[in-house]
Amino acid sequence: MSYATLRSPAVMSISPAMDDRKIVSLPEGKEPVLRVMSMPADANPHGDIFGGWIMAQVGTAGSVLAARHARGRVAAVAVNSFVFKQPVFIGDVISFYAEVWRVGNTSITVNVEVYAQRNPADIETVKVTEATLTYVAIDSDRKPRPVGPLGRVPQYPKQSVFRFGDDGVQGRE
Ligand SMILES: CC(C)(COP(=O)(O)OP(=O)(O)OC[C@H]1O[C@@H](n2cnc3c(N)ncnc32)[C@H](O)[C@@H]1OP(=O)(O)O)[C@@H](O)C(=O)NCCC(=O)NCCS
Repeated sequence: MSYATLRSPAVMSISPAMDDRKIVSLPEGKEPVLRVMSMPADANPHGDIFGGWIMAQVGTAGSVLAARHARGRVAAVAVNSFVFKQPVFIGDVISFYAEVWRVGNTSITVNVEVYAQRNPADIETVKVTEATLTYVAIDSDRKPRPVGPLGRVPQYPKQSVFRFGDDGVQGRE
């Protein structure tokens, strides 16, 4: 996803706040909309994960929730804010938590909080990124369409979770 084409200039900074440096827990009672492990291809030669890769994942995570509320296709129209609070390293398990902050006529603004977990022997959890993005519900002609009032968010059915069986064939749980 290229944010260069977005209409609103993104407010970005790379300024870790001291308060965010402490080790935290994942948000209790919430499910991440996305969880992914960062790989060597996503990093510079020092092992630091590219900010652009994190932005792409955040854009995807926010769109998952926006699309559920919009009950269909959405397009990102603006990155309202984006803060890289802490670095992400190769092998971190990264969890993206999304929350709807505002619903307009055709637009949905979503806040995404990102946590990294590392060191499986003694797991350390840090909040690495927080961002706010606005999505617009669009129809098949890419024209904005009304999203309606904020209602119950449809959940993906548990049966849609896949796993690999012992025989190596992918099947439903
Ligand atoms: C998203 C898109 C369809 C909107 O079409 P548009 O005719 O420009 O939309 P409108 O001016 O009618 O605005 C639609 C909504 O977006 C909101 N919006 C528009 N620009 C915005 C901005 N810079 N910041 C926040 N919200 C914005 C409007 O307030 C409106 O919200 P509302 O209906 O809830 O009041 C169009 O801009 C587009 O296709 N953009 C490219 C999307 C894209 O490719 N994204 C991926 C980039 S990597």
